[in-house]
Amino acid sequence: MTEIPEHLLKRSKAAKGQSSGDAGSESSGSATPAASEGSAAPVAAGGSAPAAAAPQGPVVTFPNLDSEPEPPKPEPAFVTAAKSRRRIPVWALPVVAALPIWAMSFAGTMQQPETEDPVLVESAAIYSEAGCAGCHGGNGGGGSGYQLSEGSVITTFPRVADQMLHVARGSAAIDGQTYGADGRRVAGASGAQMPAQAGSLTVHELELVIYHERATLSGEDQDQPGYQEWIEHMRADAESGGGEEIVNDDYIAFLQECADPAVSPDATGAMASPDPEAEPCPGPKAESGG
Ligand code: HEC
Repeated sequence: MTEIPEHLLKRSKAAKGQSSGDAGSESSGSATPAASEGSAAPVAAGGSAPAAAAPQGPVVTFPNLDSEPEPPKPEPAFVTAAKSRRRIPVWALPVVAALPIWAMSFAGTMQQPETEDPVLVESAAIYSEAGCAGCHGGNGGGGSGYQLSEGSVITTFPRVADQMLHVARGSAAIDGQTYGADGRRVAGASGAQMPAQAGSLTVHELELVIYHERATLSGEDQDQPGYQEWIEHMRADAESGGGEEIVNDDYIAFLQECADPAVSPDATGAMASPDPEAEPCPGPKAESGG
């Protein structure tokens, strides 16, 4: 052990006597009593060992070693700033929580299929550009021309070929004659004419606009056999620039062979085949002959 000079010990004892009275003399101010009474831990050096040994022995107090409670340090400026900074108000929390959901749904609206599928985009464009919307309504609800929506046009024309024939030649070509399933219509009976589209639309455009009226406006079942293949055929035409062939008399004659004599005046149904796949007619291949 290091020898502590006599005058320093005296000064230390004197100081303890002043500050704590009897308590100071009991504990005698040195590390040694604590270490020997504690007995378990060997003391390597005075001063530092008692702290380790103390918990095992009787409680020894070192009054003048108790440090004064430190005055609270002044708070750093950034802590003060953080504490006083405005937080998100409680009422706004649901809004903040919903932000990611909103972001995802917003991203969803950016990629609607209308902006990608050429069949949907082009068929809708032709319906308005060819003037159909002006007489039949933008949603097919009807106007000077018949309603096409809510299944109406599908009731008149169960098959695509009959509708294409009617639109291609117009109502004047069959004025006064009965057309449509179950003799539903008489051409010209509405008091106005359906203008012939032959000479102005290409075959590809005629097919697309009929698709728009049936599928988009009238909600035709697109899961029925052959329907997706029909759409695929139009998509292939659209992606290759579409057929340039304008609807002419030859094409009308071809449509008359595809159309159903029970629905369309002057139709022959000559193309009708027990195997719909074998027919070269437009529309879903698995359509029944009606
Ligand atoms: C100038 C107005 C006008 C325009 C443009 C027009 N239609 Fe019509 N459409 C009519 C009228 C009127 C009739 C009914 C004529 C009649 O009484 O026979 C009709 C009938 C029809 C029918 C028969 C519906 C049924 O249930 O009998 C179809 C299908 C049709 N139009 C499709 C079209 C398409 C496709 C276009 C665009 C390419 C078009 N129309 C453009 C006025 C128009």
